Amino acid sequence: MAAPTSPAPQQVRIALGERSYDIRIGAGVLADPASWAGLPPAAAALIVSNTTVAPLYAQRLRAALAGHYRSVFEVVLPDGEVHKDWSTLNLIFDALLSHGCDRKTVLFALGGGVVGDMTGFAAASYMRGVPFVQVPTTLLAQVDSSVGGKTAINHPLGKNMIGAFYQPERVVCDLETLATLPARELSAGLAEVIKYGPIFDLAFFEWIEANIAPLLQRNPQALAHAVRRSCEIKAEVVGQDEREAGLRAILNFGHTFGHAIEAGLGYGEWLHGEAVGCGMVMGLQLSRRLGLVDEAFVQRVTTLIARAGLPIVGPDLGADRYLELMRVDKKAEAGQIRFVVIERPGQAAVRGASDEIVRQVLADCTR
Ligand code: NAD
Ligand code: GLY
Repeated sequence: MAAPTSPAPQQVRIALGERSYDIRIGAGVLADPASWAGLPPAAAALIVSNTTVAPLYAQRLRAALAGHYRSVFEVVLPDGEVHKDWSTLNLIFDALLSHGCDRKTVLFALGGGVVGDMTGFAAASYMRGVPFVQVPTTLLAQVDSSVGGKTAINHPLGKNMIGAFYQPERVVCDLETLATLPARELSAGLAEVIKYGPIFDLAFFEWIEANIAPLLQRNPQALAHAVRRSCEIKAEVVGQDEREAGLRAILNFGHTFGHAIEAGLGYGEWLHGEAVGCGMVMGLQLSRRLGLVDEAFVQRVTTLIARAGLPIVGPDLGADRYLELMRVDKKAEAGQIRFVVIERPGQAAVRGASDEIVRQVLADCTR
């Protein structure tokens, strides 16, 4: 059988008035000069990456940027969610200042969501704001975190608690970089792909169900479609509600429970996507207990999450600890936890729930 061929590059537009930008998606787009044309002019660029991704792809990006900037500097951060903090963020400012970077300097975030979120936050605050470009190299970052302008670092008391809304100039998703991604990270990215189905697009959910095997085998056409459709949905939601006044909160399906798992176990113990996958199972069970969806739909989505290689049973932190952690969630109002629930397949909303129901869900879903 012939090897699967790579589809041509595609573009998705994020329409946000003067902050609009394109997401360029394709195999090999990192080395394509068209990916870098038309960015804001500057004397210098700073590539921000980490100890895992820089050895794999920094040279390729450096070569692509060489014709555009007089100087291309690089800062290599320690790898891992546990380093998404002030001291690591400061390494980016150290690099910018020690190289004498001015306020036109363009930052390039080369890596997964951790590098992307930190680079975006650094760009938002260095000299009160410099341009930045997202070059996501994980599936999770290509389908979610690089798009939409949420930037942040963690605080020991809560995930992504310190940050800013700050949009990139462009997003460049090179599907070839997914070839080196560990299988566990690919599954983590699939959690955020699956998320778009129950909250927004049932037809896409059905497509994922039918294509989960090719996705796990990294079939180029399947990955290209998953990244493109995910970005289109995110573009539609963010275009309507950039700063999460309402609709955008649905993108946090599974995240209230998931963030509690991540913070409760210690950042990095479970991957973000794993916690979101399991958090979606909890969110579905909550939706069922609130009388919104039936058991058959809960089982259908749970089955797909498991087939993607994700955990569907949460760690037993104790219900009190879960509730304590979830009260720090950004959606909480006056200490009242608010959850993204599935109102009907393909449509989500944000709701409160009594502690008693949440305890029942946790009893169902943790061990
Ligand atoms: P990550 O950034 O930690 O990357 C996962 C691992 O894969 C890391 O070890 C990384 O070095 C490695 N890696 C990256 N690209 C690789 C490649 N091509 N080949 C081999 N290894 C590679 O994790 P992630 O899952 O990409 O992102 C999770 C983070 O994103 C979390 O901090 C989460 O809070 C954040 N997030 C943000 C948003 C947002 O809207 N800003 C949305 C979702 C998630
Ligand atoms: N990942 C959730 C959001 O971007 O809003």
